[in-house]
Order: sequence, then C-alpha cells, then structure tokens
Amino acid sequence: MRLGIIGYGAIARELLAVLAREGAAPEAVIVLMRDPAQGKCDLPGMVTVGSARALADARPDLVIECAGAAAVREHVPTCLAAGVDTVIASVGALADDGLHAALRAAARAGASRIVLPAGALGAVDLLAALRPSGIEELVYTGRKPPAAWRGSLAEDLVDLDGLNAPVTFFSGDARQAARDFPKNANVAATLALAGPGFAATRVQLVADPGATCNLHEVSLRAGVANFTIRIEGKPSPDNPRTSLTTAYSLAREVLNHSREVAI
Ligand SMILES: NC(=O)c1ccc[n+]([C@@H]2O[C@H](COP(=O)([O-])OP(=O)(O)OC[C@H]3O[C@@H](n4cnc5c(N)ncnc54)[C@H](O)[C@@H]3O)[C@@H](O)[C@H]2O)c1
Repeated sequence: MRLGIIGYGAIARELLAVLAREGAAPEAVIVLMRDPAQGKCDLPGMVTVGSARALADARPDLVIECAGAAAVREHVPTCLAAGVDTVIASVGALADDGLHAALRAAARAGASRIVLPAGALGAVDLLAALRPSGIEELVYTGRKPPAAWRGSLAEDLVDLDGLNAPVTFFSGDARQAARDFPKNANVAATLALAGPGFAATRVQLVADPGATCNLHEVSLRAGVANFTIRIEGKPSPDNPRTSLTTAYSLAREVLNHSREVAI
C-alpha cells in the first residue's frame, strides 16, 4: 500500500514501527512535513512533501493525520477533496462545527471518507453501535497524576503541588472540555461524535496523586446495554502526553484498509 502521513512525530514513528512488526510495512510512505528539507527519511521507500497538494498528487491509498488540530484544518480538506480516504487522529478539531462541516463537504466532493479512529480510547465500536438504541448517559473520566496536568487550565483551578487526594477540577460537557483542555479534546470529541453529541457527553477531569499513569474511564447507559471500561494507557517514550494506544489504533485502521478482513 501507499501510505500518506501528515506529521512525523511520536505517533507517526510508532505507527510505522507497529506496521513493520506486523509484516505490513507500506511499499511507499509519503510524509507531509512542515519543512520537508529538515525531514529525515529514515525508512526505505519514504519520501517527504511540503503540502497537502503534493501529498494528494503522490496518490496515497490512505492518509493518516497525526499532527494536531491546526494540521487538520490546513491539510485534510485537500486530501479528502482529492479523493483520498483520511484517518484523523486529532479528532478534537471536529469540535469546531465549521471545520467539521467543511471536512464533510470535502469528502462528499472527493467521494472519499473521513475515518475517526478510537485513538487512546476503547469500546468506541460498542458506543457507536448502541447509539440507535438511545443513550441515556455517557460519562468520560480522565484521571492523571497532578504533574501531567501542568501547562493546562488545571493549574488555575487546583493547587497541583499540594494534593494528597484526588480532585475533580473539571465537570462539564465535551465541547467545554475540548475548548478548555485541548490536550484532552481528542478523547472527548471521539466519544461525543460516536455517541450522543458534544452537549450530552459528560466529561470529568481528575488530578489524582495516587495515579501512576493516564487513566481513561468511560461509562455508558444505553437502551440495550450498559458498559464501563477503564484503560491504563502507557505513555509514548517520545511524547509523554501521547498514549501508545493511539499509534496501535491507527495501525489497525491501516491494516483494516489493506487486508482482506477488517476487524
Ligand atoms: N485520538 C486520540 O486519542 C489521540 C491521542 C493522542 C494524540 N492525538 C493527536 O495526534 C497528534 C500527534 O501526536 P504526537 O504524539 O505524534 O505529537 P508530536 O508532537 O510528537 O508530533 C506531531 C508532528 O506533527 C508535526 N506538525 C505539527 N503541525 C503540522 C502541520 N501543520 N503540518 C505538518 N506537520 C505538522 C510536528 O512538526 C510534529 O513532527 C496530536 O497533536 C493529537 O492531536 C490523538
């Protein structure tokens, strides 16, 4: 397969490593970098480009965006309008209704598809499947050690250094969460889009001095089933803010796009 990648950071590198371990290394990898002259082509068959136009012209079978919300706005509409199915890791970008509508319009124009992966989460398949049965309640709780909340609005809401018990410093809907805590925007937006929408998806963010890793908890009550899931994600060694599960989730999308059986 010819794989296009937008952004070449922790997730992109881990994604390519997972595909290689699975014996599914793409025959060509076209990477869109902000400055392709600076890009290191560290794999055989890998080339770098500097624009979405050049990426689309290289005719990838699938594009994976793993560069951030600004890159979704800047590059993904061109890929979709050119007819290239595109997996968006920075799902939080779709909390902007205008951008969401523009992406859908580009996909319609190009007869392509926007693929939203589970990313750091799990059970998104079950959530999306149960939506037609009526969702009564969907609650996401993001729990991290206090230090992991540094650099976010949490610093203004709670004394991160002085905690000796867990504190829920944010409780609101998924749109507020995506706006106020952009680093948590992807999980909140994924649940909202798979489930009952931004306004009806409840988000709680917790600074927990007892937590040793980033915990994602999802609890759903729906018409035909209820479930609770708890994921203890291990951080990427290259980017402690990113869970390794995201790269594996993207690898699954690539494998499902290229193999005989999609699961
Ligand atoms: N869905 C999820 O659960 C989930 C989880 C973690 C991360 N993510 C998303 O994945 C993104 C990438 O994560 P990462 O850990 O690899 O980050 P990273 O910082 O390690 O790498 C991002 C790369 O993208 C490049 N980049 C940024 N803006 C760009 C642009 N406009 N054009 C081209 N390249 C650009 C950067 O130079 C960098 O190389 C995050 O920003 C986040 O939005 C999603």
